[in-house]
Amino acid sequence: MKKILYCLLVLVTCTNAANAANQLTEAELGQILFLDTAFSTNRTMSCSTCHEPTKGFTDHRVNASKNIVSLGDDSMSLGSRNTPMAAYSNTSPSFHFDEVLKEYVGGQFLDGRANTLADQAMGPPLNPVEMGLPNAETLVERIQENPFYVATFKRLYGDNVFDPSSTEAVLPAFQAFANAIQAFENTKQFASYDSKYDRFLKGEYDLTVLEDLGRTLFFSNNNVNCNSCHLLKTEDSKEEPFTNHQYRNIGVPSNIDLISLGHLKADFIDHGLLENPAVDDPKYDGKFKNPSLRNVAVSGPYMHNGVFKELRTVMEFYDHYNNVERSINPETGKPWRAPEVPNTVDKEDLSAHALTDRKIDALVAFMKILTDKRYEPLLEEQEKSK
Ligand code: HEC
Ligand code: HEC
Repeated sequence: MKKILYCLLVLVTCTNAANAANQLTEAELGQILFLDTAFSTNRTMSCSTCHEPTKGFTDHRVNASKNIVSLGDDSMSLGSRNTPMAAYSNTSPSFHFDEVLKEYVGGQFLDGRANTLADQAMGPPLNPVEMGLPNAETLVERIQENPFYVATFKRLYGDNVFDPSSTEAVLPAFQAFANAIQAFENTKQFASYDSKYDRFLKGEYDLTVLEDLGRTLFFSNNNVNCNSCHLLKTEDSKEEPFTNHQYRNIGVPSNIDLISLGHLKADFIDHGLLENPAVDDPKYDGKFKNPSLRNVAVSGPYMHNGVFKELRTVMEFYDHYNNVERSINPETGKPWRAPEVPNTVDKEDLSAHALTDRKIDALVAFMKILTDKRYEPLLEEQEKSK
């Protein structure tokens, strides 16, 4: 950590650049790149602007986006998807079609359109509604503005890393930028597995009665089915990501508040997996990657379009498929709206036993104990502000 702080200072003063460059690992370089606003046109935005490491790697800024989506470097542009937590995305395998499951699995982004974390990291800097650089050449120029980066890139990736005559499809320095960020995203900081649940598995934390009920419900096969989408391993395995990295449509409605921000057409539909250029079969329309439930209690709002603010609402939403008494969305006071993409809703896996209020409280309590230790104070702040 000391080294990182030192190097951040170096970024400002650019003294002793070569010296500091000699000490850094690839992941430490990645951490500095992740935090550096130099890779956005107006230099206002870094990866961490939308994925704030102290806030569960989500966007907690208060601005015109009303926290539903993220505001870009130009202080105007808005995205169409709620910014997901970047933590635990290193548990997702490369995007592929599993011949046994007959399902698409893995990848980065909610539609898996980036194969790996490095591929993903090349997206935001050049995305016009995010960091907004015109091209990869500009990104490489921004790297070269800084002698500290030049020295570190050359040491880690070879003296030719800035060589423009390369025949590679991607500029080597741009690829190196992405590789360094991927190395950072593969560190423990992004997957610390030290939540109360992980501590419980090691015998270091006793579950409350409610948390234990939530755990039983979550893992049970004939109750609520959460485990058919949000479980990779078997019950109570260590380092469980709480997603099987597959894609499903759970019938999330469009978000009226998102549309009313005015940057999308009134009839905007997010087609999820079908937006992935590698996928063209309409049976994948409206499916989204089953998200990890780690840190979910501190990463609201929920769903690809941020349509629900509270975890409890998410639980009532699931229950409305099975419980006539849950016909009203508690956040709007109106009936649940129709699915954004109705044809592919996974009715089979969504059909389950109805939940009592206590069971819903229990599932929420269980999800709260999936919060990494360093974000537990955020949970306490939430409780206080209620
Ligand atoms: C303007 C806000 C913004 C910025 C800046 C940004 N991201 Fe994201 N990030 C998002 C959004 C929105 C998504 C989901 C987009 C989608 O699915 O199409 C996302 C998705 C991701 C994911 C995939 C998560 C998952 O569950 O699939 C990772 C990893 C990630 N970002 C890392 C980064 C890195 C690394 C950078 C910097 C190079 C960065 N982000 C910059 C908003 C942002
Ligand atoms: C059929 C698969 C499936 C089942 C069953 C399922 N989920 Fe999900 N879950 C998803 C998908 C897919 C999303 C994201 C949908 C979207 O963004 O449109 C999601 C979203 C969520 C979210 C919001 C996460 C976020 O970051 O926005 C929570 C919380 C959640 N599920 C918890 C549960 C719990 C608890 C259960 C059991 C009661 C459950 N899910 C059952 C597939 C499923």
